[in-house]
Amino acid sequence: MADVMADKKPALRAASLSGAFDLRAWMDKARAMGQLEEVDGADLKFEIGAITDLNAKRGGPALLFRNSAGGKDNGFGLLTGSMLNAATLGLTMGFEGALDNQQVVDKVAGYLKSVEGHAHDFPVEYVKTGPVMENQRTGDDIDLGIFPTPVWHELDGGPFIGTGCFQIHQDPETGWTNVGTYRNQLLGKDVVGNYISPGHHGHIIRMKYWAQGKPCPVVMCFGAHPLFLLMGSSDVPAGVDELSWVGAVAGRRVPVIKGPVTGLPIPAEAEIVIEGFAYPDETMVEGPFGEFTGYYAGGQKPEPMVRVKALYYRDNAILLGSPPCRPPNDFSYQFSVMRSAAIKEAMRRAGVPAVKSVWVSEAGGSRMWIVTSISQKYAGHATQAAAVACSCQAGGLMARYSIVVDDDIDPSNNDEVIWALSTRSDPGKDFSIINQGWDNPLDPLLTADDKEHGRLWNNRVLINACRPFNRLNTFAPVAVASPALTQAVKKKWARLFS
Ligand SMILES: Cc1cc2nc3c(=O)[nH]c(=O)nc-3n(C[C@H](O)[C@H](O)[C@H](O)COP(=O)(O)O)c2cc1C
Repeated sequence: MADVMADKKPALRAASLSGAFDLRAWMDKARAMGQLEEVDGADLKFEIGAITDLNAKRGGPALLFRNSAGGKDNGFGLLTGSMLNAATLGLTMGFEGALDNQQVVDKVAGYLKSVEGHAHDFPVEYVKTGPVMENQRTGDDIDLGIFPTPVWHELDGGPFIGTGCFQIHQDPETGWTNVGTYRNQLLGKDVVGNYISPGHHGHIIRMKYWAQGKPCPVVMCFGAHPLFLLMGSSDVPAGVDELSWVGAVAGRRVPVIKGPVTGLPIPAEAEIVIEGFAYPDETMVEGPFGEFTGYYAGGQKPEPMVRVKALYYRDNAILLGSPPCRPPNDFSYQFSVMRSAAIKEAMRRAGVPAVKSVWVSEAGGSRMWIVTSISQKYAGHATQAAAVACSCQAGGLMARYSIVVDDDIDPSNNDEVIWALSTRSDPGKDFSIINQGWDNPLDPLLTADDKEHGRLWNNRVLINACRPFNRLNTFAPVAVASPALTQAVKKKWARLFS
């Protein structure tokens, strides 16, 4: 990946990345990097979910499941673990190298900053057809049951076809195209569930159609290059065409086909796509599903659903799976990186100075535990940073702990963060509570009564775990070998520390 910040105009990504939107080209590269393994004959019921989770917990390679037990013998595949480490995330976004969490966040924050300025140079490119149109089904011929769709967790209400997915909506008032990742339970051969949390853009757009008494048109994609999943599940601001962001990251316009049923753009190189409609007041019982918080808090209840009017897929199509569960899970690494980078960017735009790094912990569901490191410049700086981190769009939803530490602490290193919390914060004066923050019905602390009465909010705490600003020069020195001494010792005694 070229240095995007040095590059004033397009090709944000190296020119060698042709086939930029083809999942199969991505898989070939992952295989060559030793980041793709094949799994033959695993069971769709629970076994694939458990393998996927174990692999996620070790930050492993992508897994391609073939000939899965309980599925149909039709040549379709299932890929999970597409972005569990810096190597596969870098392959998706176009950067290389063994990077630690802070370096990855800086890379991605640089992308976001650059992409924002370049996205208008990468509008989607309409093409007549593409690989996704190799197979086309309408009416009674639609059967989503042909794909290898796992029942991911033991308490799930059924198979979920949409996990590593994304869906495309257009705002009926402005024409803005939004891409969002929202789960889809397989509820029938041509019906899928469509749980979208309040406040998410897909929810807002759907409500606009319904307020006009119209069905909401949608394109859903259940398999594609992971870059779509990455951007679809990222906090791209409202009004920004996310397909052009995908194009700007890839350095190539996204080829799309105008959907014959909805008129919405269909990524031409996708693996599996449907067109359909969500009708006002039409719901089906959805869930439960093992969620990203680590619980089944959403339960089982009536939710909007989508009636599928057309199905398109490639020969030997590959479904992309990215199931949640108790973190770390299949998408928590990329979710943490993207959110951390987006918050860092939001803080820059809000004018908070001297932010060194941000890390939203995977263990906190990549939402609830935000740690920011700063070089303190003035009294009150730490509290300001904590407040912005958990109030901006990227960090606002479900934030519960917003902690600010000095710049000698790596926010992604829990030992360092706990040390700072334990030795530099005084609960009597360094904790400030914000009430009624933006929450989500999947929060396990909300009660059924809260949800029924619309009390969809949480409380959050800002924690200043920096050395007191007025004692910066007099605070007790840190008892650890200096960086120079550490480096010299490691060099001289290399055989002990290799
Ligand atoms: C694999 C995966 C599954 C997700 N499932 C859901 C979901 O079912 N409902 C939801 O509202 N958000 C879900 N999210 C989170 C949203 O995709 C994310 O918050 C995104 O920024 C929403 O986009 P929007 O702001 O354009 O609506 C999921 C994210 C990932 C990575």
